[in-house]
Amino acid sequence: MTYQPSDDRYNGKMQYKLCGNSGLLLPRISLGLWHNFGSVDDFDVATDMIKHAFDNGVTHFDLANNYGPVPGSAESNFGRIFKENFQGYRDEMIVSSKAGHLMWPGPYGDGSSRKNLMASINQSLRRTGLEYFDIFYTHRYDGVTPVEETIQTLIDIVKQGKALYVGISKYPPQQAKQAYEMLKSAGVPCLISQYCYNMFNRAVEAETLPLAASYGSGFISFSPLAQGLLTDKYLKGIPEHSRAARSTGYLQLDQVTPEKVQKAAKLNELALRRGQSLAQMALAWILKDERMTSVIVGASSVEQLSANLRTLDNLEFTSEELQEIENILNE
Ligand SMILES: NC(=O)c1ccc[n+]([C@@H]2O[C@H](COP(=O)([O-])OP(=O)(O)OC[C@H]3O[C@@H](n4cnc5c(N)ncnc54)[C@H](OP(=O)(O)O)[C@@H]3O)[C@@H](O)[C@H]2O)c1
Repeated sequence: MTYQPSDDRYNGKMQYKLCGNSGLLLPRISLGLWHNFGSVDDFDVATDMIKHAFDNGVTHFDLANNYGPVPGSAESNFGRIFKENFQGYRDEMIVSSKAGHLMWPGPYGDGSSRKNLMASINQSLRRTGLEYFDIFYTHRYDGVTPVEETIQTLIDIVKQGKALYVGISKYPPQQAKQAYEMLKSAGVPCLISQYCYNMFNRAVEAETLPLAASYGSGFISFSPLAQGLLTDKYLKGIPEHSRAARSTGYLQLDQVTPEKVQKAAKLNELALRRGQSLAQMALAWILKDERMTSVIVGASSVEQLSANLRTLDNLEFTSEELQEIENILNE
């Protein structure tokens, strides 16, 4: 049967926030396709998660050329899901992609050169079957390519109509500043900055986040649940099908440390007192920051996604709760 999106997908289920100084509204919760959408994953579950997201007002889907495995297959699967279900809804969606990590063999399949980015966006458009991306990111500063070369390529990508907006991901502050300056001068301001940010990884708080805000860039957190560590899933060991247990998962077993699990257990108690799951509290904690446009959650089932979307039911924290969280994290 042909899929019909829910009629009340914008009926208060989702909250939207302007992305930095732009006029673009992004959902506070976006869906990332890094894991669980590749050719090794269950295509029906992937399809159901995208339908569930869209039905609940999630308009933003985050991809990259190398997502899979195999690399590229998340974009191909998204393209197929889009073609089979969402053809009439392109204007209701924000689709992001990126290039900069290893994707194909030889000297041009990795890094942030003009050669790599131009070839990558063309490949990504072919794989997804889309005419353009809403947001295209430089996935990383590669330490070699001059920032000017990478950023000029992003500007040209927008001028060629292959992307509407551009963003940067994981750039160190010095290179981020250069990028913001150059994009601003070119009249293609940096829409959004994408970095890892969660209760267990707060590195961006010192410099990166204030810098992005000072240039009017929106900010989006990736791995907001620390790949699952900030959920109740590892409190009693390593579940069989979890990311840490899967050979294709990026989360390594040795990252599930007793120290992290202990903190998660204490945070979990506080979350339950708030009437939330730990995952919901971890997402709400990120979204409380005014500068945070959205979080990109990953999910391996519709149930997880559905639970995470209910985060929006309670985004408020008392000062005592915030202090308790600080105490647990600083222990
Ligand atoms: N720019 C970059 O360099 C970069 C890097 C990384 C990620 N990203 C983006 O950020 C997105 C999200 O990253 P992420 O997948 O690491 O995010 P995450 O939200 O921190 O972790 C998602 C994982 O946590 C577990 N989980 C989620 N909700 C749960 C719940 N309610 N209960 C129990 N477990 C739950 C699931 O793992 P299980 O499989 O164990 O169920 C899920 O796959 C990616 O898809 C990608 O779009 C970007």
